[in-house]
This record gives sequence, C-alpha cells and structure tokens, in this order.
Amino acid sequence: MRTVFWEDDKVKMIDQRLLPGEFVIAEFETVEGVARSINEMYVRGAPAIGATGAFGMALAAQNSPAIDRNSLLADLAAAKELLDAARPTAVNLTWGTRRLLELAERTLLPELDDIRSALLAEAQALADEDVEINRRMGFNGAAVIPEGANLLHHCNTGALAAVDFGTALGVAFACQEQGKPIHVWVDETRPRLQGARLTAWELMRAEIPMHLIADNAAGHLMRTGKVDVVIFGADRVAANGDAANKIGTYKLAVVARENGIPVYCVAPTSTVDLNLAHGDLIPIEERGAEEVTGIGEKLIAPEGVPVYNPAFDVTPHRYLTGIVTEEGICYPPFTKSLAEAVGKAQARVEENRKARG
Ligand code: MRU
Repeated sequence: MRTVFWEDDKVKMIDQRLLPGEFVIAEFETVEGVARSINEMYVRGAPAIGATGAFGMALAAQNSPAIDRNSLLADLAAAKELLDAARPTAVNLTWGTRRLLELAERTLLPELDDIRSALLAEAQALADEDVEINRRMGFNGAAVIPEGANLLHHCNTGALAAVDFGTALGVAFACQEQGKPIHVWVDETRPRLQGARLTAWELMRAEIPMHLIADNAAGHLMRTGKVDVVIFGADRVAANGDAANKIGTYKLAVVARENGIPVYCVAPTSTVDLNLAHGDLIPIEERGAEEVTGIGEKLIAPEGVPVYNPAFDVTPHRYLTGIVTEEGICYPPFTKSLAEAVGKAQARVEENRKARG
C-alpha cells in the first residue's frame, strides 16, 4: 500500500502519527487540510511530503473556481505558497509543488478542465516515479553493503517516508530481495521516535533482523565493533554534499568517522538543492516544545521548562563516504558528482514525460 495517494477526488494518506498502535487512512479535501497534514506530520519523510505537495497542487486545481487561465494560475501560486510553508527543510516539498505549477504555466491546453486533468496526471506520475526511483536507489546502495553487515539507521526512511520502498531503508529492503543477510540497529530517534515507532514497525513486518536501540547507545555500538555501515536519508543535500537530516544524524557521522565506519547518505536527486552552495544555507525547522517535554501524552519534564527543538541537523560532506542516488552513488568531489546525477535525472523525467505524450 502507498503512503500517500489520490482517491475519490481526495488526497489520502496513512496517518503516521498513530503508528504502530493504529493504522488509519486520513483524507483531505482542501489544500489547507493537505498543508496541515504535512505540518502536523500525518505524513512525513522528504519524498512523501514531495508527493503530498504535488497532490495538494492537483487538489488546488480541482477545487479552484477559476474560469480563466490567469485566475487558475493565481490560485495555484497561492496553494504553492501555503503548501511550501508547511515544513521548511525538505526541499522535496517545493520541488513537487514547483513541478506542478511549472506544468500549469507552460501547458498549451486551452480548456481549464484539461489543465486540471493534466496536473492530476503529473502528480500521479511523480508518485509513480518516486517508487521506481526508490527501488533503483535501494539496489544501488545494496551494492556497497557487505553480506552479514550490521547497519546503523536513523529516523524512518522506509516506505512510510516515501510513496513506497523508501530511501536508506530501501537499501535494507533491496538486500533482503537479493537474499543478502543483514541486521539493522534502529535508533529510536527522539523526540518523535520515528525509529522506534515507524522503522521498527516496517522492519518487523518485512522480517528483517533488527534491534531497537536508545539513541545514546549508538556510539557504544560503533566503538565496540558492532556497526559495519551507518546509513541515513536526507531532507536536503546542498550542492557540495552537506546533508540535512533528522536531528542526531551529524553526531552519528562524526562518531562513525572516529571509528573508521563508512557512512552513506541515501537520497533521490529531488532532495539535492543545487541552488544552495553549502549546508549552512539549509533552513532548519524548529518544532514545538511539547515534542521534547513529553512522550505521547505523558509529560516527562517540569511544566513550563524552556525548550529548543531543532528538527534537523547538517552533516558536513567530509563525513560522507558516498551519497546514494537513483542515478548511482556519488563520491567526492560531490559538487561534480551531484550535479551530474541531477542532470541525468532531469533528462530521464523529460523522456518519461515525452513518452506519456
Ligand atoms: O521529521 P521527519 O520525520 O519528516 O524527518 C524525516 C527524516 O529526517 C528522513 O530521514 C528524511 O526525510 C529522509 S528519508 C525519506
């Protein structure tokens, strides 16, 4: 089943806030609702929110009362602004909404309803491509995972973080499909526990050997030889390879380097932002205090305690052994290898679009 999809003129998605306790499909009929679903993390993970943004744009076109092309474009521009503001770090969101807006701007279709249909078809294509891209990326990454390896993984980068299959966790799924035995150490990933709640759920369902660990255990495991590869996703990769990912990733990469452990970031080219020269330019989302002061409904800190809650950190590219993309593994110098991968991916999207007619 897909994490996010279009059905009955609505955007539907797995409500990830409730997992693993409850499996509920949430549905949204307005752009405001879709923006809220991203901001409140019903849906999360960079590729998943990219696809959700694209479906949100298709919904905006469908709901727009416009009777001329300019008004439709104005409604779409407003929808893009609302959706993009929902979460700032993952560039996939603005990438997805921009792809839809640009299609609307350049289409020569004269009828508004045909433009609406073309936008929905584009969002569907983006979602389908995501699955195909993730599979390719997963198998590219599997090539550098030794048989019997112990992977250390942060946050959730599985099927739930994308339309399907996932990014870094997709590498584990690819190893499994190839019959290559692996074991995954799953960081719990405070404060929102994406590792404990979502990654553990996905790996257990897939019957991939794993252990859940407290975030603070990771350094000990690395120093005592229990980790062969550190693997994670990204929400935005700058042109030089600096990678923003879930808070706590940087610390893992530094400790891995100290212990001679290879570190791979696994991210589709839609996560690469060639407009940003380096990672210090990546906007880092700050989220509410309640994520840190509580676990679920339970308060674990004194009421009123001051909190700082950055949701992401940036790992400087010098700590990365490679960046696995759908176009192959990028190695240093990343400025060159990432630009080449993005170029190849753009050409592929154009070819696919032509093939669709
Ligand atoms: O705050 P989240 O849960 O959306 O953060 C997700 C991550 O940090 C993932 O590692 C990232 O999106 C890349 S993988 C899909």
